[in-house]
Amino acid sequence: MKLYQQVATEVEKAFSATGLTEHPIVLQPAKNRDFGDYQINGVMGAAKKTRQNPRELAQKVADALQENPLIATAEVAGPGFINLHLRPEKLAQYIKSALQDDHLGITHSSEPQTIVIDYSSPNLAKEMHVGHLRSSIIGDSLNRVLSFLGHKVIAQNHVGDWGTQFGMLVAYLTEQQQNGRADLELADLEQFYRNAKIRFDEDENFANTAREYVVKLQSGEASVLALWQQFVQTSLQHAQAVYQKLGLKLLPTDVTGESFYNDQLQPTVNELLAKGIAVDSDGTKVVFLEEFKNQDDEPMPFIIQKKDGGFLYASTDLACVRYRINTLHGNRLLYVVDARQSLHFQELFTVARKAGWLPESVLAEHVSFGTMMGKDGKPFKTRSGDTVKLLDLLNEAVTRASALVASKNPDLSPAEIAHIGHAVGIGAVKYADLSKNRTSDYIFDWDSMLSFEGNTAPYLQYAYTRVQSVFRKAETWDKNSEISLNEPLEQQLAVELLKFEDILNSVADTTYPHYLAAYLYQIATLFSRFYEACPILKTDEATRNSRLQLASLTGKTLQQGLALLGIDTLETM
Ligand code: ARG
Repeated sequence: MKLYQQVATEVEKAFSATGLTEHPIVLQPAKNRDFGDYQINGVMGAAKKTRQNPRELAQKVADALQENPLIATAEVAGPGFINLHLRPEKLAQYIKSALQDDHLGITHSSEPQTIVIDYSSPNLAKEMHVGHLRSSIIGDSLNRVLSFLGHKVIAQNHVGDWGTQFGMLVAYLTEQQQNGRADLELADLEQFYRNAKIRFDEDENFANTAREYVVKLQSGEASVLALWQQFVQTSLQHAQAVYQKLGLKLLPTDVTGESFYNDQLQPTVNELLAKGIAVDSDGTKVVFLEEFKNQDDEPMPFIIQKKDGGFLYASTDLACVRYRINTLHGNRLLYVVDARQSLHFQELFTVARKAGWLPESVLAEHVSFGTMMGKDGKPFKTRSGDTVKLLDLLNEAVTRASALVASKNPDLSPAEIAHIGHAVGIGAVKYADLSKNRTSDYIFDWDSMLSFEGNTAPYLQYAYTRVQSVFRKAETWDKNSEISLNEPLEQQLAVELLKFEDILNSVADTTYPHYLAAYLYQIATLFSRFYEACPILKTDEATRNSRLQLASLTGKTLQQGLALLGIDTLETM
C-alpha cells in the first residue's frame, strides 16, 4: 500500500486539470493532524511562476479535487496551502486488505536488486568492542528492511584477518602452545593481544620470529597458515557469540575477510598501472586523485602498494569492489562503516569508477555513522578509560533490564524475567542507536534507553503488549466484519498505519533506519490516544469489531516494524 503515491497521483491529476502540468505538487503528510491527513504546498510556487493569485489558484486545484474517489475534502488555507482529508471508507478498505495479507499489504519491489551490505566487519586481532556495535546493528536493520522489500541481500562481514599484527599473534600462539596455555590465553582475546604486544616490545627474538611469520603467512606456508587459521577461528567464534546475543542475521558464511582477497591484490594493482590510472612514485604505487585536494591544493594520493611490496587496506578494498560486482553481481553496494573512513570510501569509489570496475549503473554508498559517546560527551569508555568489550556491554544491558522488569513485576518467574530482560535489554541498546540519525554522534545513556516513557524500545515493546492485552480480554470477535472509521482518531491511526510501505521505502532509499523508528513511535502514540478516546471493548458490537481490526493492524505493524529493526516483541511484560 503506497498511500503517498496514491494521493500524489490524484493531486497530480488535479494540477494538470488546472493547467499546472510542469509544476511540482510538493505533497507532505500534514504537520497538524487536526487540519488534514496530507497537505499540498506546491501551489504557491506554481502561482508565482505563472503569475497568478496563489489563493485563487489553490481554490481551482481544490475544486478539481471535489468528488475524488480517495480524497474527501480539500480546503485552502493560509497563503495557498491545501489540506486534504482522505475518505474514511477508502481507508477502511485499505486497512482490510492489509489485514488480509500476511505481508501487511506491502508489495515487493518491482525492480528487485542484489544489494551487498558490508557490516560489522571487526578486526579479528582483538575482541569486538563498542566501536563495532553501530555497524552491526545498522547493517542488520538495513538487511532486514531491504530483504522484506524483496531485494536479494548479500551480507558481507569484511573482517580484518590479515596484516602484520597476525605475525605477532601467531608467534605468541606458538609460544603458548609450547607452554600448554594456548586455550587459556585465547579465552580473552583482548588480553591475548596485550600479552603478545608486550612480548613483541620487550624481546628482540620474539619480534624477529613475528616478522618472519608475516612473510611466511604471505607466502602461504602451511604450518603458519594453520596457526593463523586457529587464531582466526577462535576470534570468529567470539564474534559469533556477540552476534547471537544481539540476534543478528549475520552467519559464519557471511564472513569474507581481508585474507580472502590476498591473491587478487597484485593483479588489481597491476591492472591499475597498466591502465595508467596508478603510477609508480619512487617504488610506491599510487593513484593521484585530481578530484580530491590536500591542504597544499595537490591531488590526494591513494596508495595501493608500498615500496616493500606490501599491500594496504585500500588495495584490499579495490579487489573487494571487483568481487562484489563481478562475482556477487551486486547492483548496489552499501558499506556500513564509521564516519572517519568517509574519505577512504569516496576515494575508493572514484578509483573503482575510473578503472571501470564500478559501472555507473551501480550505486556505491558509504553508510556512515557517528561515534557512540559516554555521558561525559567523550567516546564511550570504561571508568578506567579502557575500551568496552561488546559482550560485556550486552550482558550489562540484559542485567539492568532484568532488574527493572523484576522490580516492576515481582510475580514473574526467574525464567520469565530472563526472557523479558533479554528482549528489553538488547532491544533498548539497538533502539537507542537506530532511533537517532546515524550520521551524528550520540550519547549512550542506560537510564534514558531503558525508560518506559518516550521514544525507547521498552515503550514500544510495552505498547505492543497493551495491544495484545486487548485481544486477550476480547476473547472472541469477528475479523470479517465491516470496518468503519467515524472518529477522527480512528482515521488518523488508519492513515498512519497505511504509511508503513512508504516509510520502509524511504529507509531503503536513504539507508536511515531512524525513519522507521520515528514512525513506530508515532503509531504507538496515536494508538494510545485512540485507546483512551475510543472504547474498544465496551461499545456496540459493530464498533467493537471494527476497532479491534484497527488494533490488530496496529499490533502487526508494531511487531513487524520492530522486527525490521531487529527488536523482539513480547506478549506480556
Ligand atoms: N575492519 C575495518 C575496521 O574495523 C572495517 C572494514 C569495513 N569494510 C571495508 N570494506 N573496508 O575499521
